[in-house]
Amino acid sequence: MASSIVLNGSEGRPVTVNTGLFIDNEFVPSSGNATIDIENPSTGAHLATISAAQKEDIDRAVASSEKAFSTWKTSAPGVRRGLMNALADLIEKHAWELASLEAIDAGILYSDSMGLHIPQTVENLRYFSGWADKVDGQSLTIAEGFAYTRREPIGVCAGIVPWNSPLMITSWKLSPALAAGNTIILKTPELCPLFGQKLAQLVVEAGFPPGVINIVCGLGTVAGAALSEHMRVKKLSFTGSPAVGRQIMATSARTNLKKVTLELGGKGPSIVFDDADFEKALFWTTMGISVNNGQVCIAGSRIYVQDTIYDKFIKEFSARASKAVHGDPLLSTTTKGPVISAVQRERILSFVEKGLESGGALLHGGKAIDGPGHFIANTAFANVDQSASIMQQEIFGPFASIASFKTEEEVIAKANDSVYGLSAAVFTTNLDRAFRVTEAIEAGQVTVNMWGTVNANTPFGGVKESGIGREMGKDALDDWTTVKSVKYNLKM
Ligand SMILES: *[C@@H]1O[C@H](CO)[C@@H](O)[C@H](O)[C@H]1NC(C)=O
Ligand SMILES: *[C@@H]1O[C@H](CO)[C@@H](O)[C@H](O)[C@H]1NC(C)=O
Repeated sequence: MASSIVLNGSEGRPVTVNTGLFIDNEFVPSSGNATIDIENPSTGAHLATISAAQKEDIDRAVASSEKAFSTWKTSAPGVRRGLMNALADLIEKHAWELASLEAIDAGILYSDSMGLHIPQTVENLRYFSGWADKVDGQSLTIAEGFAYTRREPIGVCAGIVPWNSPLMITSWKLSPALAAGNTIILKTPELCPLFGQKLAQLVVEAGFPPGVINIVCGLGTVAGAALSEHMRVKKLSFTGSPAVGRQIMATSARTNLKKVTLELGGKGPSIVFDDADFEKALFWTTMGISVNNGQVCIAGSRIYVQDTIYDKFIKEFSARASKAVHGDPLLSTTTKGPVISAVQRERILSFVEKGLESGGALLHGGKAIDGPGHFIANTAFANVDQSASIMQQEIFGPFASIASFKTEEEVIAKANDSVYGLSAAVFTTNLDRAFRVTEAIEAGQVTVNMWGTVNANTPFGGVKESGIGREMGKDALDDWTTVKSVKYNLKM
């Protein structure tokens, strides 16, 4: 099967998507007509049935991407730039449809999608389109004469996209991949692939040649595994769980040593010193654990507050962070959508037990919200021991673990006491302290007096078990290109 379906978007307006795999600029059924059933996390009801890529389909997609690469790699930079900008314009034009799909499929607030995810996506495409004619090497002098380096595209690449911010994270992979001259197969998340079905339509409308962008939904264990094993996929960029990230790396080692970049989550510390602007700290720390229901890899899920302001902070944090209007993510009155699935909700709730067992004090929440959808109350624990699982493990939900600290040294040690190192936030008005602490924290990103911004021109990625490689910014281009040295003998 591969047919069009009509879904109810924002204000009841119809959104049409095709249910097929998008290969070679066409929607096609999967081999054996395999499908995946998609639910609406706000209601638990069946939403759509989408083609599920099998191994044979991945082979087809790779063949298509390979064929496209032979001309795309030498296409004029202006051509790549023009197409990327055309796609950005179309995403802007169809923003409400994409945001509607993210709302009904991923439970993301329509307003967040419209206000953040889509503008970020558009910005990433436009930013990287500007790099298309700046993927430059160096000119070097060597004893034999001279040399230069060329930054060349890698070839057929794959991007495995997570369910938490699917469109935006797609753009983090798609944009530098295209600017550098690669072709790419995007595997959309099995829990919420609908945005990708719409994006595929826009890819055709923008005028991309067939095979430059292939978009396939499929199970991680089938389609994701097939991409990760594929001998002719030269690079794979994955955002998702640490367990799967490790498998992907091991698979690369066992197969063709494809280049792997991984973004695997975190346990972000938000550190509030007593010299901080209290209101600002409260605003950003609350946002840091409630945006997208805490289902963001940079979530500020560990909050360390200096003992002198600790009692005041937890009282005001709880008053603020416990508030939420749960409901349909399409409605502007809703401030909190569902989490992605029943499984994920159970997993989050299992940490409530663990938090109580480890002696933490439940400040608010800790329970599911009744109803058919996968809603959960904003949850926070205070006085959490550093060794408690709720302080160490990534929960990926609206779940804050709070503890106090006395000194700067103590909080640096606590912040670094994690297997993760993705993002951290520091709140202080003392400039010297800000310099010291940002330097001492092991993380790919540290924000001062704010939390979690992502900017198209600023590299993003982790250290330690948060991953390998960078997305966004010029650094991302390095991860989507390979360097060739060309040397000329002028002497003998
Ligand atoms: C897939 O579905 C199409 C249309 O319903 C049908 O003609 C075809 O036989 C099916 N193929 C397989 C392998 O089931
Ligand atoms: C992080 O903190 C730990 C403990 O204080 C320290 O050993 C480590 O050197 C710190 N990391 C950096 C990059 O300073």
